[in-house]
Amino acid sequence: MILHKHFDVNARGHLTIGGLDTVELAKQYGTPAYILDEEVIREQCRVYRKAATQCFGEDALPLYASKALCFSTMYRIAAEEGMGIDCVSGGELFTAKRAGFPAERIYFHGNNKTDRDIRDALDMGVGTFVVDNQDELTALSEEAARRGITQRILLRITPGIDPHTHRAVVTGNVDSKFGNAIVTGQAMKIVKEALSAPGIDLAGIHCHVGSQIFDIEPFSDAADIMVRFIADIKKECQYEIRELNLGGGLGVRYTEYDREIDYADAIRQIASVVTEYCRAHDIRQPRVILEPGRSLVAAAGLTLYTVGSVKEIPGFKNYISVDGGMPDNPRYALYQSSYTALIANRANAPRDFRATLAGRCCESGDLLGEDMEIQHAKRGDILAVLVTGAYNYSMASNYNRIPRPPVILVRNGEARVAVRRETYEDLVANDIL
Ligand code: LLP
Repeated sequence: MILHKHFDVNARGHLTIGGLDTVELAKQYGTPAYILDEEVIREQCRVYRKAATQCFGEDALPLYASKALCFSTMYRIAAEEGMGIDCVSGGELFTAKRAGFPAERIYFHGNNKTDRDIRDALDMGVGTFVVDNQDELTALSEEAARRGITQRILLRITPGIDPHTHRAVVTGNVDSKFGNAIVTGQAMKIVKEALSAPGIDLAGIHCHVGSQIFDIEPFSDAADIMVRFIADIKKECQYEIRELNLGGGLGVRYTEYDREIDYADAIRQIASVVTEYCRAHDIRQPRVILEPGRSLVAAAGLTLYTVGSVKEIPGFKNYISVDGGMPDNPRYALYQSSYTALIANRANAPRDFRATLAGRCCESGDLLGEDMEIQHAKRGDILAVLVTGAYNYSMASNYNRIPRPPVILVRNGEARVAVRRETYEDLVANDIL
């Protein structure tokens, strides 16, 4: 086992995922390629579902934050596993609809929904809007009233918590483009507006404190603040909030230096503080929703590359260049995120080489990692970067006109293409000469 139980090494010394030989997968599908163990995604959905049901009752509904990994089959998997989903754009909604995802289980997020987004989502019958701001509330209310319908909403609230994670993924602070801060009074103001807005049913409130969080404290702090706010709403508006969405954010083990998280236990801990706070503030416990993205899909994935060159600069660094890079995984370039990499065709060889993993773009920041511990490599080797299931394919670009890799799903000892590799023809499909 390497990091997670579905990554292993076979008798040929090749890295395997879900029991399949990654060197064979690279031969069959080419590189770069995203490979995902579908069973791991399904198991994680079940962990969340089971724990949520145990803690919050039969109507608990964990949502999959689909920005983490979005393609049609992924929505099918989420639907089959009884999840709800968080969508943040017309494009995600469209993909979910096309995959047949039940609209009533969709939560529509985003801090700047366009008029078209609002109309499309209403046309689709999206179950819940997570309304970010006053302008959106007004636009949604007008459109819903015009249609003679009542739209269920949550309001996005900013509890003002710094989860001590990377700044770029901190979204719960008061100074945020998301939501309405409690301390400034804006949160209570928008609650009152929502309660009197035509065509609006205020079901609950939402917050999201950040991402890649390993401690329970940020969630329990958020729960504390949100429950107090629910109690304040009850007092000031004589209105009972029915749903509390605490967002996503539980972390994932990317390297052996990261802790392993017991997700069921984490959910139980979050649940118990919510129950305790509700009791303390004498409010009826609302339906509690969690909204994980990364922790459902990250560990399931790896990316396979072919090594093109190995450059040892005496007195400086060693570079291993591969046939992908920031277009398929921008997370190191953006956040200096750490990953584990290994040579898949010599997976048992000692990782006694230190190298910077370089992509193929014309940009020196195009790296997948620096100073990484890896095996000695040579041109033609297959290199695997592990735990790339979240925020890799979904953040991929065509920088340098590099086609996006395919997404291959592995299950029951078989592999199938879920998203085909982009072609050069795809790259020019929208160009008008
Ligand atoms: N709910 C909301 C409202 C969110 O904004 C997010 C993530 C989630 C749920 C899911 O959070 P997760 O469980 O995945 O941590 N591109 C960055 C991550 C950005 C996360 C944005 N929001 C990365 O690659 O690390």
